[in-house]
Amino acid sequence: MRVVVVNETGGPGVLTVADREQPQPGPGQLLVDVAAAGVNYMDIYQREGRPPYGRDVPFVPGSEGAGTVAALGPGASGFAVGDRVAWAGAPGCYAEQAVVPAMAAVAVPDGVETATAAAVMLQGITAHYLCHSTYPVAPGDTVVVHAAAGGVGLLLTQMVKMRGGIVIATTSGPAKADLARQAGADHLTSYEEFGAVVARVTGGSGAAVVYDGVGLATFDASLAAVRPRGMMVLYGGSSGPVPPFELQRLAGSGSLFITRPTMIHYIASRDELLWRTGDLFTWVREGRLSVRIGGTYPLTDAARAHGDLAARRTTGKLLLLPR
Ligand SMILES: NC(=O)c1ccc[n+]([C@@H]2O[C@H](COP(=O)([O-])OP(=O)(O)OC[C@H]3O[C@@H](n4cnc5c(N)ncnc54)[C@H](OP(=O)(O)O)[C@@H]3O)[C@@H](O)[C@H]2O)c1
Repeated sequence: MRVVVVNETGGPGVLTVADREQPQPGPGQLLVDVAAAGVNYMDIYQREGRPPYGRDVPFVPGSEGAGTVAALGPGASGFAVGDRVAWAGAPGCYAEQAVVPAMAAVAVPDGVETATAAAVMLQGITAHYLCHSTYPVAPGDTVVVHAAAGGVGLLLTQMVKMRGGIVIATTSGPAKADLARQAGADHLTSYEEFGAVVARVTGGSGAAVVYDGVGLATFDASLAAVRPRGMMVLYGGSSGPVPPFELQRLAGSGSLFITRPTMIHYIASRDELLWRTGDLFTWVREGRLSVRIGGTYPLTDAARAHGDLAARRTTGKLLLLPR
């Protein structure tokens, strides 16, 4: 079977296609024919070897996907050959087949396309935990969503609206702003001007929460936009990592809360994984959550997918289609 492999860390060109033996599922594992593998920013960090995300080479990138169960390892339960499953947080799925822990897999229900399931797992779970658990958005809260036309951003905007929040959305230009508006954003703005928009919309008091996955370029202005005792959620760094932070700044900025969450701690139990993915699949089936697949690529074009994502040429979710 074909896989994408990273033999040395570096730019998109280090993603090469190789032939491998079919993997054997171990205890508690499923062998899955991968229909779609999600492309995520984390895959870029790992390909680059960016601390602390670096992995030992060689490795097969990708941690998210959906497909059909082809075989079960010893003791793997809850699934049968032929079932459609999806997962996030299981390494090695830029491949025609992947081995996935049964505990990390969820059944894809009727009414949800397999590719849509792959597209909504990692970014959908992230959007879900950000606005339900990290800072549970309450009706009337003013919320900043950065990169609102991106994979997480489009889903997060829709979920904040479901919870009754007012979304101030940043994007880099009008075409992306249109997508954020269609997702429900109330105010569209730029990375340079969002602070002024927050001040205007809140009468100077500030946003209840800023969800910032852009990082380096936006961090300081994001912090300045949070209301006293509000929350700064730094959940990524698509523009680069934020340098070390002096905690005393939180006092001067209004006794703020700050957190740097990561998905794995918000699906730590099987129940939590099933809660979040159950909500996602229900909303997709009911037409309440729109999942935008902004680009699909064959395995041989994984480098192009990474290049497009890093160069801000994409919207919504990118998928590799191995078959
Ligand atoms: N902590 C977690 O659990 C978790 C989980 C998933 C993702 N994340 C993080 O969430 C962020 C978004 O991930 P995603 O997969 O949904 O990506 P994405 O938002 O679809 O793509 C990144 C977007 O960031 C914006 N951006 C702003 N400045 C940028 C710059 N200098 N370089 C590149 N992009 C820039 C671009 O949108 P504009 O053109 O509109 O500016 C770009 O399209 C990433 O930082 C990722 O690491 C974190």
